[in-house]
Amino acid sequence: MPTLLAIESSCDETSAAVCRDGKILSNFIANQKVHEQFGGVVPELASRAHLQNIVPVVDTALKEAGVTMTELDAIAFTQSPGLIGSLLVGGQFAKSLALSLNIPLIAVHHMQAHVLANLIDEPRPAFPFLCLTVSGGHTQIVVCESPTQLRVIGETIDDAAGEAFDKTAKMLGIPYPGGPLIDKYAQIGNPSRFHFPEPKIEGLNFSFSGLKTSILYFLQNAGKSLQYKPDPIATSAERESFIRENLNDICASVQQRIVEILLHKLKIASLETGIREVCIAGGVSANSGLRQALKEYGEKYHWNTYIPAFQYCTDNAGMIAITGYYKLLAGEFSDLSVRSEARAQW
Ligand code: KG4
Ligand code: ZN
Repeated sequence: MPTLLAIESSCDETSAAVCRDGKILSNFIANQKVHEQFGGVVPELASRAHLQNIVPVVDTALKEAGVTMTELDAIAFTQSPGLIGSLLVGGQFAKSLALSLNIPLIAVHHMQAHVLANLIDEPRPAFPFLCLTVSGGHTQIVVCESPTQLRVIGETIDDAAGEAFDKTAKMLGIPYPGGPLIDKYAQIGNPSRFHFPEPKIEGLNFSFSGLKTSILYFLQNAGKSLQYKPDPIATSAERESFIRENLNDICASVQQRIVEILLHKLKIASLETGIREVCIAGGVSANSGLRQALKEYGEKYHWNTYIPAFQYCTDNAGMIAITGYYKLLAGEFSDLSVRSEARAQW
């Protein structure tokens, strides 16, 4: 019955979780509010907040699980990818603890962990399964053959899906991170009201930058054109009132386009691989439009579909813990010289 402590600190959430024999006993997440006023994550502020949070967060996770340090068999931590200053805080803490307790260290790739979040609760997907991972920094389609054998078969060549939501929100004057608010407004808007172009990109890769540019021109021209105009058709007062009066329909139309882009590629991935066990993961999997579309595609194409519980969708140490558990079973340990890396293959 191995017991693990896991630490996640790749971006702006400080999180710790305890897992015993593959069961998550606690998953405590401290959100950093300090970034809201800046409209995005400020890396230096994130590192400082991790430093302040890490001890109380780990302490809370252990207490909630009813586990003491001496009962731990291994420490798992997010090694990559992420903000280097943030990763270093969690990494150094994990190493120090592993060294002082004389227990193994397990380095975890954050994107593998997002996928394996689907293995935390029942019902679990059967192997091999497909996973669409959609977060603020990544958009990937992954084939998962086993917990330690994963293959990326498609990914974004520019912006991530979460970025498409957040950047649209910024253009609309919605505070960061705008994804959840776009979702909220979209629920009372008409998704067929405005038409945004579909990106022309072959294969299983994604592109969201063209969509972002057409939304920018659409708003600059107060909905009258998606093209760049050297002399915008609308005055700034007209633009503001256009956004105010049509906010729900704009959000619904943008959200529908993003969701269609994602599901279209997922459908091709399923057809090409013949895999019908289909999961989503990452912060954007909280989106109500995406969840509904996954359900509809599932019914239409006879997929079994899976979405992790909300607390395991956004950045959290629970997913690091489950990945650490499977790496422990596979004997995949790291030594103390392992380095945190902003970007790394897996
Ligand atoms: O996985 P995550 O917590 O952090 C990263 O690793 O990036 O994902 C955060 C992203 C943000 O872009 C946020 O706007 C988006 O997930 N997000 C949503 C929703 N909830 C979170 N996007 C659309 N609709 C939502 N309901
Ligand atoms: Zn993430």
